[in-house]
Amino acid sequence: MKVGVVGLGYVGLPLAVAFAEGGHDVVGVDTDSRKVDALARGSSYVEDVAGDRIAAVGERLRATTRYADLATVDVAVIAVPTPLTDNREPDLGPLLGAGTELARVLQVGQLVVLESTTYPGTTRERLVPLLEESGLAAGRDFAVAYSPERIDPGRTDFTLRTTPKVVGGLTPACLRRAVAFYGHVCDEIVEVASTESAELTKLLENVFRSVNIALVNELAILCDRMGIDIWEVVDAAATKPYGFMRFAPGPGMGGHCLPVDPFYLAWKAREYDMPTAFVELAGEVNQKMPYFCVEKITRALNEHAKSVRGSKIAIVGVSYKAGVGDLRESPAVKIMRLLGRLGGQLAYHDELVPKLPDLELESDSLEGVLADSDLAVIVTAHPGLDVQAIVDGAPLVVDFRGVTRGIEASNLVRL
Ligand SMILES: NC(=O)c1ccc[n+]([C@@H]2O[C@H](COP(=O)([O-])OP(=O)(O)OC[C@H]3O[C@@H](n4cnc5c(N)ncnc54)[C@H](O)[C@@H]3O)[C@@H](O)[C@H]2O)c1
Repeated sequence: MKVGVVGLGYVGLPLAVAFAEGGHDVVGVDTDSRKVDALARGSSYVEDVAGDRIAAVGERLRATTRYADLATVDVAVIAVPTPLTDNREPDLGPLLGAGTELARVLQVGQLVVLESTTYPGTTRERLVPLLEESGLAAGRDFAVAYSPERIDPGRTDFTLRTTPKVVGGLTPACLRRAVAFYGHVCDEIVEVASTESAELTKLLENVFRSVNIALVNELAILCDRMGIDIWEVVDAAATKPYGFMRFAPGPGMGGHCLPVDPFYLAWKAREYDMPTAFVELAGEVNQKMPYFCVEKITRALNEHAKSVRGSKIAIVGVSYKAGVGDLRESPAVKIMRLLGRLGGQLAYHDELVPKLPDLELESDSLEGVLADSDLAVIVTAHPGLDVQAIVDGAPLVVDFRGVTRGIEASNLVRL
């Protein structure tokens, strides 16, 4: 098979590599020439794809900025970003751009699959009309399907192959094509009746997490006031063998998905006179968390007769989650901005994020940031973080991830 992947990011690159490893010829198209150059050098920029895998597939994966190279593929998968505008409305710019370019080279018999997360109706109402600008008819001359990506960056227990893949087709024949296609790299395919069902499935998964994280974050704020240990409560509840799923509180939601995707659904629901109250409320609670974290830091310093202004604050971990260097919507960045505005002197340590250009900061060693600090704040705890060294090395430690549990120390404050 010849496979095209449009958008070689966290979603597109692992998929492109998986097909190349399966012996298929893959052409990846990305508008970012730096990514194309990196792949040409055989190096990876996505943590979940080791550089040696890129080198190992060699010529079977070719990256380019030219859409024209997609004219010869059997299947084209679109995995471009679906962000929000400044007004927090869906920004389909990259997706519509990709559709327009693809239409120019579309051929009879090709299958086009959208993987970008989006609201129900996008594939049929927005992508198909663009592709049909080619003069070809969807469902007759070419096939169209939607299949959400369930990748969880940094996770190793479930892979593309072992995570069931949900697929919806524009027509039953489109569905059959897409099921056969994904069968090459996924063990289990879950067929749904339409592209809309597949689109909404992904949003349900993300809204479910957003709502549950918001619930436990709200309880964390309440626990703070009531003097109850939220971590103990969550762990105790998680001993129930049925009917409960453990979600951890934290400094707020980050990444490309959870802070963004639910708003795609909320936006579309308005067209149907339907306010999605759960979605909006969860977003509100989660967005409040970085502000609550700053309040907690301020109180901790106050206990030590210090103010944020003038204090040397060491931030440990700035990416949005453990094990990845992704800064998108990271609550750590929000917390740092707020502390900076209050006059805090910031330094940070994150082995996966060498620079924060927006804040004009560079990562220092753990010892480096702890030396002379007034306070260390654990915002993201990457695997292998020496938590004891932080507690021993800083006069005051605030932990928003619960990783200091089990350590008894008078200089320790936990969410
Ligand atoms: N990252 C995740 O964990 C994850 C998980 C599931 C679903 N998704 C969804 O998958 C989609 C892609 O996310 P991602 O994290 O891979 O994003 P990303 O930013 O890592 O990668 C997207 C790539 O698309 C490229 N691009 C942008 N516009 C383009 C265009 N018009 N033509 C060609 N390339 C273009 C960008 O340069 C970038 O390399 C989004 O809809 C996202 O919501 C992401």
